[in-house]
Amino acid sequence: DWTPKAMVEELVEDVRERVGDARAICALSGGVDSSVAGALVQRAIGDQLTCVFVDHGLLRAGEAEQVKQDFVDATGVDLVVIDAADQFLDALAGVSDPEQKRKIIGREFIRVFEQAARDVVTDRGDEQHPVKFLVQGTLYPDVVESGGGTGAANIKSHHNVGGLPDDLQFTLVEPLRLLFKDEVRQVGTELGVPDGIVQRQPFPGPGLGIRIVGEVTRERLSILRAADLIAREELTAAGLDGEIWQCPVVLLADVRSVGVQGDGRTYGHPIVLRPVSSEDAMTADWTRLPYDVLARISGRITNEVPDVNRVVLDVTSKPPGTIEWE
Ligand code: XMP
Repeated sequence: DWTPKAMVEELVEDVRERVGDARAICALSGGVDSSVAGALVQRAIGDQLTCVFVDHGLLRAGEAEQVKQDFVDATGVDLVVIDAADQFLDALAGVSDPEQKRKIIGREFIRVFEQAARDVVTDRGDEQHPVKFLVQGTLYPDVVESGGGTGAANIKSHHNVGGLPDDLQFTLVEPLRLLFKDEVRQVGTELGVPDGIVQRQPFPGPGLGIRIVGEVTRERLSILRAADLIAREELTAAGLDGEIWQCPVVLLADVRSVGVQGDGRTYGHPIVLRPVSSEDAMTADWTRLPYDVLARISGRITNEVPDVNRVVLDVTSKPPGTIEWE
């Protein structure tokens, strides 16, 4: 019989057995999966674990602050925050292919973690116990969609599955790799992770980097960050967070269209709203949001965000579309 309690006990036991008295770091993204993986591994091995949150410059507004407060307050986990925005954005310069972007982001993540792992050991003055394990919140759908499951085609190389380098210095610990999202949420609740984190909508590890169709630049990121914040504010204000699975906000950076704003012609970018309803992200339908909410989001984005003169709604299910645009 599947119960969250039994599942937690089993997973904790597995992790203890695997990790022994070694040290581990957890790649914390602030999302549900990595938070629950971190809390689970902390339950198993306590302060042998350090969580590492990388600010890769591809975060949404307010995200780093939220992780520092919410997650640390709730779990008391040992957290290191690393500002690596320049490193990631330099590595992404000139790249617009989505799979390339994911590979680069995955590679830079690992570089940052390798450095963080060395620093943790040095800081603690415990050279006897180097970091051997890297904890990731990989879920079953990530495994399947990256071609690691039952012979499924490689749809997207999710950075935490397909994008790892061959010479990885860590052994991966992925305690959630056989679970679906709803099961992970139940496990998180059982572990005492607060609702604010457990019910959080999914957000991809490569962040806004795969929501800019085209090259990622600082300027484009700031446009997208502003538009995304408006959409999130309005969806929350309308009480719709529980009804949508997630709502990617996408910047079509290489597309321009003519508009008229203020005293003249504009030639700006479209923003796409992609609200979806789903059970497990394997399939999804586009969410029928109320027109007045869409109107408010559109009105605010075109008024408040420079260089955006059009807001469009994605009305495609998955399949044939994916949830993200890249
Ligand atoms: P797609 O776009 O494949 O998304 O329908 C399915 C779910 O996975 C998330 N997603 C990712 N998560 N790294 C991640 O950690 C990735 O590269 C990635 N790509 C998509 C997406 O947000 C959705 O929840």
